[in-house]
Amino acid sequence: MSGNIVIVGAGHAAGQVVASLRQKNHSGKVTLLGDEAHYPYQRPPLSKKFLAGEMPAARLYFKPPEFYDHPNVTVHQNTTATRIDLNKRLVTDDSGNDYKYEKLVMATGASVRKLSIPGATLAGVHYLRKITDVEAMQAQMRAGAKLTIVGAGYIGLEVAAVAQKLGLQVTVVEMADRVMSRVVSPAVSAFYESEHRKQGVNLMLSTGIASFSGDTSVQAVELENGDSVISDMVLIGIGVIPNIALAESAGLIVDNGIQVNERCLTSDDNVYAIGDCTNHPNELLGRRLRLESVHNALEQAKTAAANICGEQLNYAQVPWFWSDQYDLKLQIAGISSGYDNAVLRGDPARRSFSCVYTKSGRIVAVDAINAPKDFMQSKSLIGRGALLDMGLLADVEIPLKELAD
Ligand code: FAD
Ligand code: NAI
Repeated sequence: MSGNIVIVGAGHAAGQVVASLRQKNHSGKVTLLGDEAHYPYQRPPLSKKFLAGEMPAARLYFKPPEFYDHPNVTVHQNTTATRIDLNKRLVTDDSGNDYKYEKLVMATGASVRKLSIPGATLAGVHYLRKITDVEAMQAQMRAGAKLTIVGAGYIGLEVAAVAQKLGLQVTVVEMADRVMSRVVSPAVSAFYESEHRKQGVNLMLSTGIASFSGDTSVQAVELENGDSVISDMVLIGIGVIPNIALAESAGLIVDNGIQVNERCLTSDDNVYAIGDCTNHPNELLGRRLRLESVHNALEQAKTAAANICGEQLNYAQVPWFWSDQYDLKLQIAGISSGYDNAVLRGDPARRSFSCVYTKSGRIVAVDAINAPKDFMQSKSLIGRGALLDMGLLADVEIPLKELAD
């Protein structure tokens, strides 16, 4: 394939498309339009080692800047794509420049969900998605400072772990009755709740936020129950929303993400979409879904690049995720929603165990906490929907793969 490829968005997924096209000796021009002042970079360290000051910015980059120094590749930073004309195959940016494409790849990712309550725009109220967000937070993250985090999801708990280690006084306010309720079972939530409390985090569950108060910068978080939490800074981590507005205005079909088929092709034959912005089918899971994960971004990027280059590749992957909090490595394979049984293997008190989710005896997902073997073995079992020996499943001495049909 030798045609011009335009990629909108310059995040993780976009970086992988450029790399995959090069691997496949794509000979046409590749133009990357990104609204940040960076080459594609990895976001996971933003709430982990980079926030902790343990990783230099240069190591965030998906590929070194020299990688894009290629006659066929042009990267436009600080450039927002504002319009797509599907008939003319033209993308227009915020300076009025046009980019003609043969194939277009939408890799627009997701944006933080904003909290619209009084005081939400005060200085010292932060969100976390970009390098610039971390830089703004770090300027305030001094030992002894009072940090209130809204949301006990991935971002909230990873930041709580880093901040606690740096000596801040951390409060986490979560509206649900348990932590990480979107992704793990009650038993795993209870384990993480107890670990954060042991580390000194002040965790408030089933608690709503009414407003933020302060003159020009935040000084307190006012709760719906009338209490007030004195705060020098606030981090809001209440989920993300897929960036679909541009695709929708162009006339592409969107529904909780840009709709794509198993080849990552949108409702227009010349437009692919990949990563956090997509709503895609997964034949292994037997349904459509939207995922927010690096693995999905990378694999959809590889799928789109292969299909652009004339291969016939379907995306069919077992989703997986990870989260680092203190010395705990959580690795999740599969999607646990819809399970009818959850069995613990190992003892949470020993800080190494897994939770295996099954439906009608078939494995659908595993949460592994400092238990990499169960995580590794589960991926292929989930992929083929293996039946497990439920009677022996709790026996951690028997490897998971030996319990499968
Ligand atoms: P993004 O990385 O969001 O990139 C999209 C890019 O497109 C952005 O730069 C955006 O500004 C730009 N853009 C959007 N619209 C336009 C436009 N019109 N014109 C130009 N540019 C545009 N996942 C994991 O699997 N494990 C983890 O441990 C993990 N940790 C995370 C920690 C943090 C703090 C965050 C924020 C995310 C984390 N994730 C993690 C999620 C993971 O980073 C995302 O799933 C991944 O970045 C998705 O890649 P993407 O390329 O689809 O989107
Ligand atoms: P999330 O969906 O994981 O968690 C959001 C939490 O906020 C939920 O517990 C929810 O109940 C709570 N919440 C929602 N509204 C609230 C309110 N008004 N008051 C109090 N609590 C409220 O989203 P999160 O943590 O913001 O992460 C955002 C994105 O970053 C996701 O795409 C996630 O996948 C990604 N990410 C992934 C990581 C990983 O995989 N390890 C790490 C960090 C981020």
